[in-house]
Amino acid sequence: MRLKHYLQFKDLSAAEYSYLFERAALIKKKFKTYEKHHPLADRTLALIFEKASTRTRVSFEAGMYQLGGSVVHLTSGDSQMGRAEPIADSARVISRMVDLVMIRTYEQSKLEAFAAHSRVPVINGLTNEFHPCQILADIFTYIEQRGSIQGRVVAWVGDGNNMANTWLQAAELLGFTVHVSTPSGYEVKPELAGIVNPACYRVFQDPHAACAGADLVTTDVWTSMGFEAENEVRRAAFARWCVDADMLRAAQPNALFMHCLPAHRGEEVSAEVLDGPQSVVWDEAENRMHVQKALLEFLLLGQL
Ligand code: CP
Ligand code: NVA
Repeated sequence: MRLKHYLQFKDLSAAEYSYLFERAALIKKKFKTYEKHHPLADRTLALIFEKASTRTRVSFEAGMYQLGGSVVHLTSGDSQMGRAEPIADSARVISRMVDLVMIRTYEQSKLEAFAAHSRVPVINGLTNEFHPCQILADIFTYIEQRGSIQGRVVAWVGDGNNMANTWLQAAELLGFTVHVSTPSGYEVKPELAGIVNPACYRVFQDPHAACAGADLVTTDVWTSMGFEAENEVRRAAFARWCVDADMLRAAQPNALFMHCLPAHRGEEVSAEVLDGPQSVVWDEAENRMHVQKALLEFLLLGQL
């Protein structure tokens, strides 16, 4: 089988996503009924974290054990990667001993450099630019709750960050539209996301206007990991970009609210919305594990 990495959302085709969503539903059902599913017995996944994580670590680690495999956990602080061993050398060594690698790091270019020297599939567990595993889980959650996302409108309110850039890639590939509203200076980066169809997103100055008629309203922290020095400036710039009940009312009556978490109640989202009836954030978090199990299986074994 040809070596396949998952570095950006657009690394897979629409047909491969259809397969993954179906497979994730099956894998989730087996998990819920305590049915053993061990296609990755004797396989090992390396998890490399250069930034903090709760969901990504637990979902990959628990998921890999549930598939019959095991994991090795590394951080920059406790490995030679934090002592300037070249990324290519780390990739050559680690990928001789494990079957899959997940990396959470800063620049996408670092992840790409690792993948270029890896013998095994590499998965993006979040970079400054993209967070494809999260959008995979978000779309799976949307489909579970509301059916196909094709033709739907997703409102993105807040920072034009790794999540927002990944939503653009997903919209172009899967045929829906993103209504984006960010403060000025924090826009999404369609060129970086490689967007060729400008119709897959629309930009709005006013966050309420972006939410009007949306099927899904979603946001993320005002300050992503790695940008903490900008915290105070961002707090002032983002004050109007808080998803509250009023904003959610502008969307479709049955619109869902999503947030990749961790969330800051009273900043990018009100407690009323995050903990309210339209919020599916806990399903979204749980689904990280189910979709990533489907992804791990697919990258190693192909379609089963
Ligand atoms: N959503 C997400 O990636 O969460 P963690 O930072 O906890 O992994
Ligand atoms: N945009 C956030 C997502 C955290 C899961 C960050 O990069 O910190």
